Parts: sequence; C-alpha cells; structure tokens
Amino acid sequence: MLEHLARKWSRKEKNSAPEELDRSGKIPKHVAVIMDGNGRWANMRNLPRVAGHRAGMKTVKDVVKAADEIGVRYMTMYAFSTENWKRPRDEVDFLMKLPQEFLSTELDELIERNVRIRMLGSKDELPSHTLNALLTAEEKTRENSGLQLNFALNYGGRDEIVKAFSTLAQQVKAGVLDPQDLDEELISRYLYTSDIPDPDLLIRTSGEIRLSNFMLWQLAYTEMWFTDVLWPDFSREHFYQAIVEYQGRARRYGAV
Ligand code: FPP
Repeated sequence: MLEHLARKWSRKEKNSAPEELDRSGKIPKHVAVIMDGNGRWANMRNLPRVAGHRAGMKTVKDVVKAADEIGVRYMTMYAFSTENWKRPRDEVDFLMKLPQEFLSTELDELIERNVRIRMLGSKDELPSHTLNALLTAEEKTRENSGLQLNFALNYGGRDEIVKAFSTLAQQVKAGVLDPQDLDEELISRYLYTSDIPDPDLLIRTSGEIRLSNFMLWQLAYTEMWFTDVLWPDFSREHFYQAIVEYQGRARRYGAV
C-alpha cells in the first residue's frame, strides 16, 4: 500500500516541476521556511484560526514532497516560536497537537521516502505528548539518509544563541575552553544546527518582510524569497517558483 502511494506521488510529482527549473544545477541544499498567514487565511473564511493551522499542515506535506522530489537535502519549517506561547491557550494547545497529528498520518510515508525527522528548539517547555511524538519520529528515522526535515518548535534564534553562549561560558569557566578559541566555527557547533549546513534559501509567506527571530545566526548569507501568498494557499508551484528565482541569483558572500 505504501509503496503504491509513493509510486503514485512520485509519478505525479516528476512532471510538476516547471521547465525553467534547472534540476542539474543549483538546487538549494537547505531551504528554511517561515510558514505565515494561517490565521488570516482562516479569518478570511470566517473560520477559527486553528482551521488555518490545520490547512497549513496540508501545505507542509505538499511542500516537503516537492522539495524531496527535486533533491533538496534539508528543510527547516518554523512551526512554533519561543514567542508563540503568548497566543490564546486554545491555539497553543492546538499547535502542540499538530506534530503528533502530522506524524501519525505521515510518518510511514516519510520513512518510505527515506526522510529523517529532527526537532530544533528548546525541549524543556514542550508538553510530553508533543515531545514524545517528535522524539519517536527522530528515533525511527535516525538512520535515514534522504531529505532531513527539521521542525523548529519552541525555537527562537536569540534563545538559541543565548543557550550556546551559556554552555560556552560554562566550559570556559571549567577550563575546558580557552576564550581565545572562540570563533564562528566554534559558536556554530553549539547551536541546534551544529551538524546542519546554513540555509541557502529562506521562504516567507503572507507578505511579511521580517525574520521573526528565526535562525538569526544561520541566515547570515541566505537568499531570501518573500511572497504575499498565505501559507495554506502556498503550493508546490509556488515552491518551485522560489527555487527558479533562487537559481537566477548570484551569491557573492561579500566578495565581488
Ligand atoms: C504563523 O501563522 C504560523 C504558525 C505560528 C504555525 C505554523 C504551523 C503550521 C503551518 C502547521 C505546522 C505543522 C506541523 C506538521 C507541525 P499565523 O498564525 O501567525 O498567521 P497570521 O499572521 O495570519 O495570524
């Protein structure tokens, strides 16, 4: 059954990337996504905000498959920020149930696709049902060598940097590290992304042009692509449009 589904999807998807997309050329290795606009999508339909998040979950499935199909190696999806706890209790509870819900229906197919799941963020404050679902998925997919799908959950860019500095400071105090050893590479090793390359492309939906505390260190040289499309309306076609535009960019990393 699963093999049948995977074959069906891959048949459909093989034909859906636009002609202009250069499959042999610059496919971004790592794409990070700020999935924004779920609430507005729901409001426009007189639906509760959580209906937008549920619709957004469907987009996650489509976009992950689209990325896998063209050979993206890492996808990082901003699913819940350290600031999102300020939302109404019902909405937070709903968002905390989504990883379980997503994984209960999608994990088998993701395993079939050789996808590895990771969680990036602070585990401390998460409800046990959320954390357990993610840890189980991490464990079950640990050996997978295909696309790595990172969920940034209870993630904050500043929080990540503070935690890294705190560990570094403790190690300096304990005499394990010399302050002179501090450099960019060393700091990178203390972030959630220590074994993940920096994103090549950042996509943000819904017309907002800001980073909202997402991957502040890692996005230093990332190409950014913004669209007015709300996340639940975002499709594989939009995703491929972002990739095509990325392929047309010249990355100079500060050089000429
Ligand atoms: C921002 O839109 C979106 C979020 C805070 C949640 C994103 C979560 C999903 C798309 C589902 C995640 C799925 C899995 C599998 C974990 P918003 O609510 O801020 O939208 P608004 O700006 O229009 O109010």
